[in-house]
Amino acid sequence: MERFIIEGGTPLKGEVNIGGAKNAALGLIPATILCEGLCKIENIPNIKDVNRFINILKKLGIKTTHVNDNTILFNSEDIDQYEMLDEETTKMRASYYLLGALLGRFNKASIPFPGGCDIGLRPIDQHIKGFEALGAKVNIEHGIINVTADKLVGTSIYLDVVSVGATINIMLAAVKAEGVTILENSAKEPHVVDVANFLNLMGANVKGAGTDVIKITGVSKLYGCEYTVIPDQIEAGTYMVAAVATKGNVLITNVIPKHLESISAKLMEMGAEIIEYDDSIRVIGKENLKSINVKTLAYPGFPTDLQQPMAVLMCLTEGTGTITESIFENRFKYIDELRRMGADVIVDGRVAVINGGKKLTGATLKATDLRAGAAMVIAGLVAEGITQVTDLKHIERGYENLESKLRSLGAKISKSL
Ligand code: UD1
Repeated sequence: MERFIIEGGTPLKGEVNIGGAKNAALGLIPATILCEGLCKIENIPNIKDVNRFINILKKLGIKTTHVNDNTILFNSEDIDQYEMLDEETTKMRASYYLLGALLGRFNKASIPFPGGCDIGLRPIDQHIKGFEALGAKVNIEHGIINVTADKLVGTSIYLDVVSVGATINIMLAAVKAEGVTILENSAKEPHVVDVANFLNLMGANVKGAGTDVIKITGVSKLYGCEYTVIPDQIEAGTYMVAAVATKGNVLITNVIPKHLESISAKLMEMGAEIIEYDDSIRVIGKENLKSINVKTLAYPGFPTDLQQPMAVLMCLTEGTGTITESIFENRFKYIDELRRMGADVIVDGRVAVINGGKKLTGATLKATDLRAGAAMVIAGLVAEGITQVTDLKHIERGYENLESKLRSLGAKISKSL
């Protein structure tokens, strides 16, 4: 099994370029199903989840052409299939967007239940509530979700929980519905805005994305366009945390500093120095980091996808800090791995109490899911001695060239069988 071998103790120094946002790309790619023309999308991250979704689209009959590793042409003109039962769809979370996109294009969609990181129950009841409100009938049989409508008609929909997936999925279904859809209590994440911008460039009429009320006025047809995916907030945040944890000095380029404010604020509270530029950010680690409390929240709050890397950093402070996970009910499994390195963490339900100041020593660790995997790598970078991180398949789902990017910053990391 492939593993990372990491020798800890080297401060990260230099410059690292951030790729396109995974969760934005995973919304934009299925959105091309709605378009009866050619879409060119640039800055698509070359990662497993994205490549898996592109393969699913090909199986639906969409023609894709790679201009280069990160620029792809999508032509959905000739598809006539509304069903995607391939087991690949069960290996990723974002396959749920096929429901909204195929429903929007054909008034019909059938897919199996989506997969993704094992971090909680992750129901899709709010997606279904939205489709039903637009006039669709939803029937679940033998693990397959079937959604059909005679026609989709705009309406008011109030989401009971702030959900990124439900917000984007309902937008995809509603852009070609008859009339106006008002989506209240929507998610405000940067990738929600990115998908809305892409839909608008294709000719849709979506207003208010980035606020908690989105207004979608249906249009009859969407056209081809050219679009560039926004930079990945979570990839950038991961390097920010790694820079502080290793007491390094790293310039992180191709970012939108506004999207990183919640992370910058917490790192500064710990004592790190952050300098913001127009599209880059310098992060400088310091000695004697202060302990802090972190609560994960929907955007613009602190992202749940960065709580695992943050936990590693909090092991290095003097004193005790807490992480409260308010989005997913089971996102602390990775703490067991950190304990094997000497971390002192007590988990009680959705709260992890981290007693800092304990020396972390190298161990063999499992990447239990995508973001936990990134946390294990950061733990290896700061631990005394050698750390091995296994189960790299999770990390490769979401980080492009993690190993070579870290090596270019001076990290002693290699991949071995
Ligand atoms: C997306 C991201 C994931 C990120 C998460 C929160 C993708 C592919 N994945 O996941 O990386 O961690 O947002 O920022 O973009 N919920 C319901 N019913 C629903 C939908 C959600 O109860 O119908 C709950 C979830 O269980 C969770 C919360 O709402 O507790 C937020 O989930 P959501 O924002 O939908 O996350 P995902 O779309 O699964």
